[in-house]
Amino acid sequence: PRIPLPRRIFQPERKNSQGINLDSLKALQNLSKSMQEQLKKPPVLGTEDEKRTPVYSPSHPQEIIGSYKKAGRQDCHHAFDASRAAWKKWRVTDVEERASLLEATANLYEEHYAELMLITMQEAGKTLSNALAEVREAVDFLRYYANQARHLFEPTRLPSVTGEENSLSLEGKGPVLCISPWNFPLAIFTGQISAALAAGNTVIAKPSTLTPLIAKRAIELFHEAGFPKDVVQAVIAPGKLVEDTILKESALRAVMFTGSAAAAKQINRQIAERDGPIIPLIAETGGQNAMIVDSSALTEQVVRDIVQSAFDSAGQRCSALRVLFIQEDVKEKTLNTLKGYLDTFTLGDPLDWETDIGPVIDSASQSELMLHIERFRQKDRLLYEGQLPELEGHFVPPTIIELDDLNELHEEVFGPVLHVIGFHSDKVEEVLNQINNTGFGLTLGVHSRINQFCETVAKRAQVGNVYINRNMIGATVGSQPFGGQDLSGTGPKAGGPHYLLRLANEKTISINT
Ligand code: SER
Repeated sequence: PRIPLPRRIFQPERKNSQGINLDSLKALQNLSKSMQEQLKKPPVLGTEDEKRTPVYSPSHPQEIIGSYKKAGRQDCHHAFDASRAAWKKWRVTDVEERASLLEATANLYEEHYAELMLITMQEAGKTLSNALAEVREAVDFLRYYANQARHLFEPTRLPSVTGEENSLSLEGKGPVLCISPWNFPLAIFTGQISAALAAGNTVIAKPSTLTPLIAKRAIELFHEAGFPKDVVQAVIAPGKLVEDTILKESALRAVMFTGSAAAAKQINRQIAERDGPIIPLIAETGGQNAMIVDSSALTEQVVRDIVQSAFDSAGQRCSALRVLFIQEDVKEKTLNTLKGYLDTFTLGDPLDWETDIGPVIDSASQSELMLHIERFRQKDRLLYEGQLPELEGHFVPPTIIELDDLNELHEEVFGPVLHVIGFHSDKVEEVLNQINNTGFGLTLGVHSRINQFCETVAKRAQVGNVYINRNMIGATVGSQPFGGQDLSGTGPKAGGPHYLLRLANEKTISINT
């Protein structure tokens, strides 16, 4: 078989509208002096008083980095009533007005990008490169859905075989509840909201209570861009309260949710049982994501892609690599190179620009991950454990665990822990069956220089995103629509051409001319 060389050793470079390269750490040297100063200076995020809830940094859990006002039951009801009332006017806005407002928001995000980066670095423990990518993805969502709306919401003339003038148009559904996670507190938060708004809906956004500050700031920018206050609002409240109030409203017209599969199922049941119409749930959940590496793959490239896929963002991505299937012939060499590479990594506070891996989000997450690691240490299955920094934060060392079989993993391990399973070349079919039998279907990576191998794996894998000879994280809006199937999500894909359609009603108008 032909042995192709991988086309992309490095990700293509991209620039934002200010000409700043947002893709490589080298780009930081291009940041202006004042921008660098801004990055070092904590923003004013709110004052602490009895009625406000403090927010702590995962890198320095003793340090209050800001505070927010937690919404109560009445606030939830008021927010929903305001959203329903605002929709009456919003539903007749022209698509161009909505698209322009989204672009104005994108411009403001770009103007304030150092501040937005800093908040995600402090509040969510994002490293500098992850914070850059976070803001860039949010901006991409705003611009992409603005353009998609312009394209999709123009009425389509239909064949006139009836002798009448027939057209099909799309319009917003009504108030939409957007429930977003802490791991992409700006990008996913903005993606959900901008899609719902672009499609002509009003939005009540419920961000994670672990990352309220970035949500609050983002909503301020939506308002500053010109969105009416009641058209897009954030309700920062515990999930249970939002489920007991907003989710029960019969005038609610769609729910967007990113989080665990268990929580998505629970929301789905609640939607089904309440009074009111049948409404869509767009759920993006987790995965038991695997990468298959055969003996023809290029070791250096494989190792770099494994590291990015499993340990970038401290493994706290739904797309992250959890289980590496590696052909026995190259297992030892690859793992040795991998361990050597990981030895060069720095764990620490993201505000220290040298940091490669930041903390996990909170102490609960840290304890759960450490428990998982301990279980396998006792079974003598730890292949590697990185150095912890001498810091108070919620740090988990990058860890490699050997498994015999995928059944040893009962749930998604949401952190910097890579599991490895060796396979012999005649067992590829078995490997694919194991992966497909997890019930999840989000991302899959394959590394091989044998085209036919890559094609077979891509075809047989029941997942939403297949990555060949590259890492398996960081889907690019518009080019790599992202989202899974089965337990990993309902579709449609975020950043893809069908997303807005799920958020709109279709209307056929027939005129007897
Ligand atoms: N969209 C992210 C990625 O592709 C995960 O949510 O990594």
